[in-house]
Amino acid sequence: MTAADHHPPIVGSPLQLLWPDEEATQAYARRLAATAQIRNAFLALRGDLGAGKTTFVRHLLRALGVAGRIKSPTYAVVEPHEGAPAPGGGAPLPIWHFDFYRFNDPREWEDAGFRDVFASTGLKLAEWPDQAAGLLPTPDLTLDLAVGADDTRQVTVRAHTDRGATLLAA
Ligand SMILES: Nc1ncnc2c1ncn2[C@@H]1O[C@H](COP(=O)(O)OP(=O)(O)O)[C@@H](O)[C@H]1O
Ligand SMILES: [Mg+2]
Repeated sequence: MTAADHHPPIVGSPLQLLWPDEEATQAYARRLAATAQIRNAFLALRGDLGAGKTTFVRHLLRALGVAGRIKSPTYAVVEPHEGAPAPGGGAPLPIWHFDFYRFNDPREWEDAGFRDVFASTGLKLAEWPDQAAGLLPTPDLTLDLAVGADDTRQVTVRAHTDRGATLLAA
């Protein structure tokens, strides 16, 4: 794997967002949730501990109709969820929330069936994707979160695929 593989080409211009509070996080999550493309997307979330990655995931899951307590996957690497069916009906939406913070054994990628997850339809979300660099497919969108002054979140959204470009335009 080369550095280029870990930083796939960017499609279009990055989007710079400022989230002054969690309501802004929620508003963006709702925008993405309202798209058809989100239902088969892979979003990579980068940023230091406390940057707001899990918070964004929780708002996105809620906006997609996930009910009940939303556990953070830090110890399990992945938490599966079910979102509401698409408008018009059909099957529930499979969602996988990965946190690769403690991921350090590449064998787990095969053993735990992560390859199959990424090959199947549904929404995949990954915190700390760089910890699984070389194993993960190209994300449709990368969100880079950073804490700014007054606890605001500065977010850079980049598209790496056509689906990502559509999501970026949402
Ligand atoms: N947009 C935001 N504005 C203000 N605080 C936020 C925002 N997003 C997240 N937070 C706060 O930051 C803290 C850490 O967020 P978390 O999502 O757990 O970070 P990460 O998953 O990146 O480690 C939480 O207490 C959360 O309430
Ligand atoms: Mg987190």
